[in-house]
Amino acid sequence: MSKCKKENARFRKESDKEMINLVDNLNQDDDMRFNRRAFLKTAVGASVALGVSTVPFGVRAMMGLEDEDYERVEITKLSDLPKGESMTFKYPDDDDAILVHTVNGDLVAYNSACTHLSCPVFYQKEDDVLLCPCHSGYFDVKNGHPIEGPPQRELPLIEIKVENDTVYAVGRKYRHG
Ligand code: FES
Repeated sequence: MSKCKKENARFRKESDKEMINLVDNLNQDDDMRFNRRAFLKTAVGASVALGVSTVPFGVRAMMGLEDEDYERVEITKLSDLPKGESMTFKYPDDDDAILVHTVNGDLVAYNSACTHLSCPVFYQKEDDVLLCPCHSGYFDVKNGHPIEGPPQRELPLIEIKVENDTVYAVGRKYRHG
């Protein structure tokens, strides 16, 4: 083989090698791009799935339709709680709650931690309101809505049932968070 032919063959070999390296690099770039795209797709998909899966809980909570199962718990005998009186109990579990037999004869119950900074609220029968003494927060005893002072949110409502003179707590409803 002439020197010139040898040179050409060596040049072709080297340029073939460079071409292979270039293709390898391009494939690696494609792989990286594909992996990045796949990762982003997975991350976005997971975020959307997580968001979608939590929305119904938020909506249900806002509408007071939580499907949490609450126990039925005996609170007291109605005959032991005359009009104008209140008593505390725990519901659900260890959450403080208050049962009020209002001066008008209504029976209502709420979790009693003030929605401002969690001090306990009391029934003030003279004014027929629930009072939080910490910062003079007032709640309407009929529905637990804040009516005066710093609290902005309603007290969680404890659903009650009266059967054969016994008052039971049977559920809890959050109205606005
Ligand atoms: S904690 Fe009830 S008003 Fe502040």
